[in-house]
Amino acid sequence: LYQLLPKDRSRPPVVWHWIPIFGSAASYGQDPIKFYRDCAEKYGNVFTFILLGRRVTVTLGIEGNNFVLGGKHTDLCAEDAYTPLTTPVFGKDVVYDCPNELLMEQKKFVKFGLRTENFRAYVGMIEEEVTGFMKNQDHFRVFQMNDINEWGSFDVLDVMSEITILTASRTLQGREVRDHITADYAEVFADLDGGFTPMHWLFPSLPLPSYRKRDIAHKKISDFYINIIRKRRESNVGLEEPDMISSLMDQKYRSGRALKDHEIAHIMIALLMAGQHTSSATGSWLLVHIADNPDVGEALYQEQVKHFRLPNGTWRTMEFEEIKDLPILDSVIRETLRMHPPIHSIMRKVRNDIPVPPTLGAPSENGTYIVPTGDFVWSSPAVSQLDPRVWKNANVWDPTRWSDPEGVAAAAGRAYENSEGPKVDFGFGLVSKGTESPYQPFGAGRHRCIGEQFAYLQLSTVVTTLIRQVELKLAGPLPDPNYQTLITLPKKPRNILYRRRKFD
Ligand code: HEM
Repeated sequence: LYQLLPKDRSRPPVVWHWIPIFGSAASYGQDPIKFYRDCAEKYGNVFTFILLGRRVTVTLGIEGNNFVLGGKHTDLCAEDAYTPLTTPVFGKDVVYDCPNELLMEQKKFVKFGLRTENFRAYVGMIEEEVTGFMKNQDHFRVFQMNDINEWGSFDVLDVMSEITILTASRTLQGREVRDHITADYAEVFADLDGGFTPMHWLFPSLPLPSYRKRDIAHKKISDFYINIIRKRRESNVGLEEPDMISSLMDQKYRSGRALKDHEIAHIMIALLMAGQHTSSATGSWLLVHIADNPDVGEALYQEQVKHFRLPNGTWRTMEFEEIKDLPILDSVIRETLRMHPPIHSIMRKVRNDIPVPPTLGAPSENGTYIVPTGDFVWSSPAVSQLDPRVWKNANVWDPTRWSDPEGVAAAAGRAYENSEGPKVDFGFGLVSKGTESPYQPFGAGRHRCIGEQFAYLQLSTVVTTLIRQVELKLAGPLPDPNYQTLITLPKKPRNILYRRRKFD
C-alpha cells in the first residue's frame, strides 16, 4: 500500500512490486536485460527498483552509461558498491579496499606489467599452452586420434575455463603459478571462486560452508603468492620469462613506499579473478558463434593461412603487433563482446545526492530527478549494445558490421551491403573509450578495465590456435545466457563439435 502513497516527485519512479524488501528480486534475477527493457517501457530510462532491501536506480541508454561511468568518483563511488564482494576474495588494501587514489596508482603498476614488451613474449606461450592442451586433454580425444573424418565434442565453457586459467597463469601469473595448477590448486581456486557470486555481494558474510571455504581459500592462495615473492626476493635470480609479480615487486607508490608482499599477492588474486570469468565467458561465446557460422570459421581460418602458414605446411607464431591487423578476427571478437558483454551491469553507490540530467529523465518539464545518497546506481552496457535504435539487426551476431567491404564480408562470402554497420563512429583502436559510447564491454572512464589488451591478446591467440587445427560446428541450438552468475555465461547444453582439419 505504501507504493500508493503520494511520493517525493524529485525521486525517480519506483518499479511496482508486491513484497516490500524483496522488491523486484525475482524478475531482475531471472533476466535482468528483459527486466530493464520492460521497466524502461513503463517508466523511461531512469527508474529505481528494490532488490532485497537495497534501492537500485538504473540509468539506461548512452546518456545513462555516461551518467554512471562519467560521474565524479566523490559522488558515485565504486568501492562502496563492490567492496562487500571483492574484499573477502581479493584481500585487504587493494583495488576497492583502499582509497580510490591508491587504486589509480595500482592500476598504473599493473599497466606497467601489461606493456607491449611482455605481450610479445606472451603470444608464443599461449600458443604452446593451447597446443599442449589439445594434445593431452580428454576434451580433445578425437583430435588426438588423428582421424580427419570423425567429429568429437566438448563443453565449450569447461574447455575455455581450463584454457583461460592455464594461459593466464603461464603469462601474467608466472611460472611458479602455472606449475602449481594441479587438482589440489583447482579445488582451492574453486572454493575462492565460490565466494564470487551475486549472493555473496548481497550477503557478504553468512555462517554457511561456502563462506568459510572462501575465507580459507583466500588465505591459502594469498600465502602461496607471498611465498613466491619471498623466494624470489631471497634468490635474487633474474627471470627468463617476464611476469606480473616481478613487475609489481619493482614498483613504488608516489609516497616512495614499495608495495608490501600482501598487497602484491592480493593484486595478483584480483587480476586472476577479474580476468578468469570475463575471458572464459567471452571465449566461450566466441567459439559458440563461430561454430554456429561455419562460413565465418572458414574466413578466420583463411585469414590465418594467408598470414601465418609457411610453405612447408607448418604455422608461424603471430607477432603481437600483427594481431591488430587481422580484420576478421578483430570483428568477430568485437561482435561477440557486443552481444555478450560478460558484465551486464556496472555499479556505483551514491555518496552525495545527485541530480539526473533532464534529457535522461525528469518528473516534469522543469523538474529534475535527484538520486539520493545511499542508492546504488547501475548502468547496463548490455542494453545499449543491443539497442535496435543504435544497431541494425541488433539481435543478430554479424561481425561484418565492424569491417570494411574487403574484410569479413568478402572472405566470408557475405554481402556487406546487408549490414550497414553501426550508426555510431567508433574510430579506430579496439573499442571506443568514451563514457558516452553505446559500446562499453570494458567499461569507460576512471574504472575502465586495464585487462582489455591482455584479454584481446589471449582470446585472439586461443581462438586462432584452435581454428588452425580444427573445424567447428554447433551441436544444438544457440545456448541461452545464464544471468544467475555474476558474469553472463552460456547455459547448458553448450557442446561444440570439432573435427581435425585436413591440410592440403
Ligand atoms: C574493470 C570488463 C578482462 C582487470 C572492468 C570493467 C569492465 C571489465 C566492464 C569496469 C567495471 C566498472 O566500471 O565497475 C572486462 C572484460 C574482460 C576483462 C569484458 C575480458 C573479455 C580483464 C582482465 C583483467 C581485468 C584479463 C586483468 C588482467 C580489471 C580490473 C578492473 C576491471 C583490475 C577494475 C578497474 C577499476 O575499478 O578501476 N573490466 N574485463 N579485466 N578489469 Fe576487466
